[in-house]
Amino acid sequence: MSTMNSIININNLSKVYADGFQALNAINLDINKGEIFALLGPNGAGKTTLINMICGIVNIHHGEVKVAGLDIIKDFRETRSMIGLVPQELTSETFETVWSTVSFSRGLFGKQEDAAYIEKVLRSLSLWEKKDNTILTLSGGMKRRVLIAKALAHEPKIIFLDEPTAGVDVELRQDMWEVVKQLKNEGVTIILTTHYIEEAEQIADRIGIINQGELILVKDKESLMLELGKKHLQVNLINSLEEIPKELMNYQIELSANKKQLICTYDKADDFGISSLLELLSNLNISYYDLDTKESSLEEIFVDLVKRKPNELSSN
Ligand SMILES: Nc1ncnc2c1ncn2[C@@H]1O[C@H](COP(=O)(O)OP(=O)(O)O)[C@@H](O)[C@H]1O
Ligand SMILES: [Mg+2]
Repeated sequence: MSTMNSIININNLSKVYADGFQALNAINLDINKGEIFALLGPNGAGKTTLINMICGIVNIHHGEVKVAGLDIIKDFRETRSMIGLVPQELTSETFETVWSTVSFSRGLFGKQEDAAYIEKVLRSLSLWEKKDNTILTLSGGMKRRVLIAKALAHEPKIIFLDEPTAGVDVELRQDMWEVVKQLKNEGVTIILTTHYIEEAEQIADRIGIINQGELILVKDKESLMLELGKKHLQVNLINSLEEIPKELMNYQIELSANKKQLICTYDKADDFGISSLLELLSNLNISYYDLDTKESSLEEIFVDLVKRKPNELSSN
């Protein structure tokens, strides 16, 4: 279903590879104009397949994709020119210089030469000093910077970053997030894939979780954390307990292996009566020297989600 502010509409998209392997199963997803969307999933989930289908690198088996209302097959050139792709694999291995590789990339999409713009891109990625170096002489990190520069060369409205930070150093990661923030400010839509949960947590507006070719959940980050997040209250006991008192059975409660801690888990969204639990503990003469609370990370939410079956979840 397409909405007014969406820029990509993916309808019922499936992929069966030549060897019969079904990599994607009936994906429906709308990407909103100007958002940062993180596609999160373990290795082999189908993230690259999905991105490569939208970019016309992998053939569509079933379903359709529209970019700015245009079909990506019927209007391939027009839709593809709106997209910049930073691929997962390093493919730039040429004797060309950084400058000519990036400029050439712009020309491929029929854009007029614009030296000032290319300079801006190269500077933003700390590539300016390397502009006359040939790609072959660059380090892996620098080659990756060139891939990003190439993707930006034709001023696309949509950027795909496929596992942009897998195996890159901290400096490049920081530069990349600066560039991403800048692009977002300019109204560019950004879709990134990652299996680093903290990354999605830090940067995304919305998160889609993909597992075994199924998009199992799409939610804005805040509500995902709120609705699916849990809180843990740890009660550090003065005297160890042999077992959990039956009076506490109404709580989701565990006794630690050393029997010196009670750990109570509850939904973040629930109005939970910590005070009633503590009152109960004091009525039972269970004394404690310290209390600790902890919120679950997106990582815990994610692990919890992929353990469930897809039909136990509603995606919206
Ligand atoms: N050309 C191909 N032929 C057959 N299977 C493939 C091909 N490309 C990818 N796959 C399989 O499809 C699944 C999804 O791969 P991919 O989209 O690369 O996942 P991700 O990017 O999430 O790690 C994997 O099981 C992978 O082995
Ligand atoms: Mg991948």
